Amino acid sequence: MLPSVKKSDSELYEIVAEEFTRQRTGIEMIASESYVPVEVLELQGSILTNKTLEGFPGNRYHAGHKAIDKMEILGIERAKALFGAEYANIQALSGSNANHSVYAAILEPGDTVLGMRLDQGGHLTHGSKVNFSGRVYNFISYGVSKETETIDYAEVERLAKEHAPKLIVAGGSSYPRVIDYEHISDIAKSVNAYFMVDMAHIAGLVAAKLIPSPVPYADFVTSTTTKTLSGARGGFVLCKAAFGKKLDKATFPGVQGSMHPQVMAAKAFTFKRAMTEEYRACMAQVIRNAQKLAQVLGTYGFRVVTGGTDNHLLILDLRPKNLTGAQFENALESVGITVNKNMIPFDPQKPLVTSGVRIGTTAVTSRGMKENEMGLIANMMKTVADNIDNAQIMEKVAKDVLELSSRFPLYEGYFE
Ligand SMILES: Cc1ncc(COP(=O)(O)O)c(C=O)c1O
Repeated sequence: MLPSVKKSDSELYEIVAEEFTRQRTGIEMIASESYVPVEVLELQGSILTNKTLEGFPGNRYHAGHKAIDKMEILGIERAKALFGAEYANIQALSGSNANHSVYAAILEPGDTVLGMRLDQGGHLTHGSKVNFSGRVYNFISYGVSKETETIDYAEVERLAKEHAPKLIVAGGSSYPRVIDYEHISDIAKSVNAYFMVDMAHIAGLVAAKLIPSPVPYADFVTSTTTKTLSGARGGFVLCKAAFGKKLDKATFPGVQGSMHPQVMAAKAFTFKRAMTEEYRACMAQVIRNAQKLAQVLGTYGFRVVTGGTDNHLLILDLRPKNLTGAQFENALESVGITVNKNMIPFDPQKPLVTSGVRIGTTAVTSRGMKENEMGLIANMMKTVADNIDNAQIMEKVAKDVLELSSRFPLYEGYFE
């Protein structure tokens, strides 16, 4: 692994090696994570990183752009084909930047926007006060219904009528259910607002046509190529053709400078891979695994928020186990299972404590794990929750984690 780095910077090499050991020996269940194919590792580390370019194919500010133009056009065409979109921009350095680009394309500072509450499933860039979006624009938040824990569409409509937003944002980081895009699109139309969907988490499931696509309903769709798309660490935006020029201008020079061609090439590969049958089958298994995990954990005395999941993630309410999210996250990490603490709807705890955890199945599924392994993992989670102060039992679970991960090798042979 990294033979040149090993020779010239052993300190850094050891840090990467430590992280690789963690990834290889642990059970990764953070819902935003996946293991990228080696092609993505190669492209992101390729000589394309040497090229500085601003602008877009046919309209550059530096010479020497012929090959990179071909790569960007290929990536754009693949993104459009994969999602059936009229227009694509693949320059966003991250999912957050993708969102800021759309805001910059259609909003003025102070404009009113409707977005989902961060503590009920939204994302920081959907108007949180600690994020640039919440400081520049007048975000009004909608949330979920207390009874069903699913989006309160009546509230979305009421707030839209009351505040006449210029934009409505849907999508989020910890929402386990399918969103009714048509319904929100109708609400947006009724108040003459733009409609944007942030599909960062679920883009892979949308690409595999396993859950509904927001593309036919939204003016703009933003995403990362990480998470379920399981690829490059960056973002992209899809939109109706009529908004293409505005979007490009907002991306560069609006919110970004020169592009990252090495990552854009990895995105282009990510889109191609997402068209394969093998990838689709993996995404179908991701959902089956999440549903299996939710079902078994429910029988073990955890409360599953919304009662289950339609996608790759589930939110566990830990109050029946008398645990906080922070306690459970730490306890699971100590045995080699990685999850993150997460607010549950109407959570009485603070964000750094929380009453819940978010669990995702993309990474473990890409290692080959199926329903049977989800049963084993659910059992380990239950054992940890019920024996958090019993060092002997925790040690035994840590051994079980090692045994399970060793049966599903990661990047075998690639780093030898
Ligand atoms: C819904 C959603 N949008 C945007 C982002 C931001 O992506 P990035 O971390 O690449 O900026 C995330 C990341 O967690 C997300 O969950």
